[in-house]
Amino acid sequence: MDNQYLLELINEASSRGGGMVLNLDGEPAVVVLTVERYNLLMQKDLITKSQESKRGKNQKVLVTGGAGYIGGHLVKELIKAGYEVVVLDNLSTGRRENVDEATTFVEGDLADENLLTDLFSNNEFEAVFHLAASLEVEESVREPQKYLENNAIKTFKLLKAMDEAGCRKIIFSSTAAVYGPNENLIAEISPLKPNNPYGASKLLAERIIKYFCEHMGFSAVVFRYFNACGFAPGTNIVPTHQSHLIYNVMMVAKGEQPNLQVFGKDYNTFDGTCVRDYVHVLDVAYPHILALEKLDFGPMFEVYNIGSGKGSSVEQVANTAAEVINKIIPMEIAPRRAGDAAITVSDNSKLRTGLGYELKYSNLENIINTSWEVIKNI
Ligand SMILES: NC(=O)c1ccc[n+]([C@@H]2O[C@H](COP(=O)([O-])OP(=O)(O)OC[C@H]3O[C@@H](n4cnc5c(N)ncnc54)[C@H](O)[C@@H]3O)[C@@H](O)[C@H]2O)c1
Repeated sequence: MDNQYLLELINEASSRGGGMVLNLDGEPAVVVLTVERYNLLMQKDLITKSQESKRGKNQKVLVTGGAGYIGGHLVKELIKAGYEVVVLDNLSTGRRENVDEATTFVEGDLADENLLTDLFSNNEFEAVFHLAASLEVEESVREPQKYLENNAIKTFKLLKAMDEAGCRKIIFSSTAAVYGPNENLIAEISPLKPNNPYGASKLLAERIIKYFCEHMGFSAVVFRYFNACGFAPGTNIVPTHQSHLIYNVMMVAKGEQPNLQVFGKDYNTFDGTCVRDYVHVLDVAYPHILALEKLDFGPMFEVYNIGSGKGSSVEQVANTAAEVINKIIPMEIAPRRAGDAAITVSDNSKLRTGLGYELKYSNLENIINTSWEVIKNI
């Protein structure tokens, strides 16, 4: 449509109080509204000129934990989407080589208040993606205070620095561990009952964020990830945790472990081993970019599960890996581990219908293939 014609339509709509109906064959066919009228009708500033022009290239975001496994992937996707990224990471579990060259990397801890003040006064961040955390369940049982401090108290410190700088948008990495045992599909409204300090510390952090949303004008999206796994094709990102099942399956495939320890084969599942929800890391990363756009719509606190919505048992993962990479994965049945639930699988319908994200990468074969491509070389 040429600009002159469009301008005439806009002027006409404005002169008629912000809107008009166009007829076709004597029947109403199309409504033309000015943006102001549209926003008024929707009772929200769904579209603003400044948002549209600011999106992408000119926006700077902070990613805490950007040297980690998920953070490293997220940062690369943000850069591809045109964002300028600053990474804050203390490298406690993260790796410097996981951080994309195109970022500004700041090595430091969330507890360093002077560093945070400098960081926020030297940069105008559109939002913060807060992934930095400790996440080993067994360690959290041994050192609950470390988890309280690193995951909850330092989240508070980050929010305080954000508030002082006037940056009030946050996207937070939470976990399925906030729900506790639940054999049905787990939705966002399922009971919150963490059964280890890791899950409890993340739930506390969620509640602190909610407080900032309710009382200090913050907007937040909280993502509860299930088991993030797999790698982007051709990536240089390396794994940061050795306790995860798929990592251990790969170690057996490489011959670096004699067999896969299967903790319990007497669970009430179809093959007796525990069932989990494995979601590809790219299906974890992409919804974050959609969430950032959602945060434009004013103060909010919204929670989404990120899971595949499908369960795979430990035996199924090992057998699929054996087939896909053509290696023998011997298994050894060991006693159950304390605190392991039989089944943990997400209901991901809110992610799909509420946020509009359809998963693309989370089939088990793809997860195993992309994991093998990386782990066989390290
Ligand atoms: N990996 C999963 O399957 C999974 C599942 C659910 C939730 N999560 C959440 O996703 C996030 C990222 O997990 P990941 O698997 O990438 O783990 P990761 O260990 O690779 O990443 C965490 C990063 O945070 C950094 N960090 C930790 N404490 C810090 C601090 N005080 N200051 C600065 N940096 C700090 C670490 O060095 C590391 O780079 C975490 O918040 C975790 O709880 C992960």
